[in-house]
Amino acid sequence: MLRSTDRVTAAALLALLALGCVSAASAKPPSTDRLVAAIKAKNFSALSEALSVKGLDVNTPDSSRRLPLVEAARSRDVRAVSALLEQGALARVSDGTTTPLHLALLAQGAAAAPMARLLLAHGADPTAKDKSGATARSLVPAASAASKELSEMLKQWEARGAMAFEDAPGDWLREEREGAAYFWNPATGESRWSAPPSCAWQRVTVQGHPIKYVNSLTGQETTSLPAALAWARVTAADGSGLWLNWAARVTSAAAATQPPAELPAELAAELAARPNRRWYNTVTREFVYTDPAYATAWRELRDEATGAPYWFNVDSGASVWEVPAELAWAEVVEGGSGSSGAAAAGTTSGRYFHNTVSGEVAWTAPEHSAHAFVEVQGAEAEAAAAAATAATAAGGAELLL
Ligand SMILES: *[C@@H]1O[C@H](CO)[C@@H](O)[C@H](O)[C@H]1NC(C)=O
Repeated sequence: MLRSTDRVTAAALLALLALGCVSAASAKPPSTDRLVAAIKAKNFSALSEALSVKGLDVNTPDSSRRLPLVEAARSRDVRAVSALLEQGALARVSDGTTTPLHLALLAQGAAAAPMARLLLAHGADPTAKDKSGATARSLVPAASAASKELSEMLKQWEARGAMAFEDAPGDWLREEREGAAYFWNPATGESRWSAPPSCAWQRVTVQGHPIKYVNSLTGQETTSLPAALAWARVTAADGSGLWLNWAARVTSAAAATQPPAELPAELAAELAARPNRRWYNTVTREFVYTDPAYATAWRELRDEATGAPYWFNVDSGASVWEVPAELAWAEVVEGGSGSSGAAAAGTTSGRYFHNTVSGEVAWTAPEHSAHAFVEVQGAEAEAAAAAATAATAAGGAELLL
């Protein structure tokens, strides 16, 4: 039984809840009714107007439960599909009956391929099923001239996922406009408020160690560093600082002033704080820009409760309490053992490597072990930056400093 004071509190609480409902109702996000109507009418100026409404979420169904992107694909309107994706429409949606990619592939006209490419690039899944259980991929008509391009696209998707359709690192620039991020592509003249897929990669860390990379737009996940994030801050031969994408071998057009649009702020700050950081692998004779601590799939983590170390495999998801054999290499120098590690490059007589788990012995440092790497700085890094820059210029890629 409620005491009277409790009853008063309860009544006040109800009143507050009612108020909350009212304010929630008045703050209701704008509806997509006008947007869907413009798509249906194929009126692009009305569509642009509808899209410019502040606070509009293009992923909200209209009052007849129609999703804007599904309706744009149904109308075979590439321009509308593109405009919606640029406003952050999610390509991997379903309205419960079908998906935009199903509709794009069913279109079969000239709009099918460009529409499918846009959707795949933004994370549409060709293995998703419609209400009848048919995958989008199964809708590509068997060998015909028109389906060749579509089949080729599906092959690319199977090999690399949405990333296969990503713009090259450095293609997009990021600016602040009206307090929001704004992206533009100087080569194509495209601009958009929502990040393009190449600028939507995020690094996921656990206890400070990279575990995986997730694209917040396409939903793609990978444990190896995507090319979009493979940037390093380097010093050019003339002493100026620049951003180098070592995977794509391009330098950023935003050069000294701004970090590349692909980099999340935290990662950019981390890289900027440690310019010219590279390692030389004495076994493979290659320079790497990534920390050799992450040369294998194993990450050393600490058990939250006990503080005891354990090892987590980012590829298999396995966790083990014993150091994995891949990491168990100890350097043995004659007369005693020690981990002089990366300090000694090349071969020293009486120096060998012993695996404390497998018992294996090797005369040269195993290529993925920390012993194989030497951190390099200064002149060597500058020379490599110059070489990379020259390679960029020679390759005909745009070089803006
Ligand atoms: C398209 O939309 C614009 C703006 O809402 C409107 O003025 C125009 O009459 C529409 N055009 C057609 C053909 O309906």
